Amino acid sequence: MHRELETILLDFDEETTTGKITLNRPDSLNAINQQMREDISEALEALSEVDDEGDAARLSTVVIEGAGERAFCAGADINEFSGRSPSDYSASDFRDEITEFSTPVIAKIDGYCLGGGLEMAFACDFRFASQESEFGLPEVDLGLIPGAGGVQFISRLANPSVAKEIAMTGKQIPAEDASEMGIINDWYPSDEFEEKVSLFVDTLSEKPPLSLRAIKDSANISVESGLDASRQYDRRVFSTLLETDDHAAAAAAFTEDRDPEFEGR
Ligand code: COA
Repeated sequence: MHRELETILLDFDEETTTGKITLNRPDSLNAINQQMREDISEALEALSEVDDEGDAARLSTVVIEGAGERAFCAGADINEFSGRSPSDYSASDFRDEITEFSTPVIAKIDGYCLGGGLEMAFACDFRFASQESEFGLPEVDLGLIPGAGGVQFISRLANPSVAKEIAMTGKQIPAEDASEMGIINDWYPSDEFEEKVSLFVDTLSEKPPLSLRAIKDSANISVESGLDASRQYDRRVFSTLLETDDHAAAAAAFTEDRDPEFEGR
């Protein structure tokens, strides 16, 4: 599958069963305009239909990256700010669709990752960056705050004091520091970046997709619920997964000392 929407490119790799969304406004450092919000929703919808083609969970992961040499995403398109009224901003956000998307979503960050772009990366399950990447929440310099959870995410991933420092100064933070703060998973020198992210994608694509999806839900639920409710979820899903073909395939492969093949059911 290869589709060119107005502001993104959408690909699906049959071999690794991985979807790829490329933010494609490089002249604006991939800033998020209204069209891009709609295109990302449409792309996620199209990727979720990959599963509908058979009777199994086929899609393993989705990677989001930026086109061009300079940015993952430099935030919301500032040119669209004027003329918008408070009622134009709804409580729901395309980033929620990323967080709630069934499969793991990886933010592959090479360059600027600022404002709403960083918040998009936070909505993903993993953030991997090239060494040259820069992170920040510059909204304070526009007389705003990060409106899509930036302060909340950093408060949880690092701590509230780090969140205040980043959001109040609006400063840019290099990938190494961002990794040390715990707000990205890892960074790599540029000449290793592609390969390292591919390796991670390949690792996930070899795992049973239903387990990946249940682990994603479990970790997300842990943020919102108490330990008892979260563990109840884990127990329920564990019993369901015990009944899957993929569990049977893995158990048989273990006994026979060979690699299993997963079907996503
Ligand atoms: N919205 C709209 N356009 C943006 C943008 C944004 N968030 N960020 C960058 N651009 C555009 C610039 O206007 C410029 O367009 P032009 O070539 O037509 O003039 C182009 O992208 C390149 O950016 P430029 O500012 O020339 O590059 P730089 O290397 O000097 O600076 C940044 C890079 C990221 C530091 C700077 O572009 C910036 O501060 N962007 C705004 C970031 C921001 O505040 N985001 C949060 C919005 S809530």
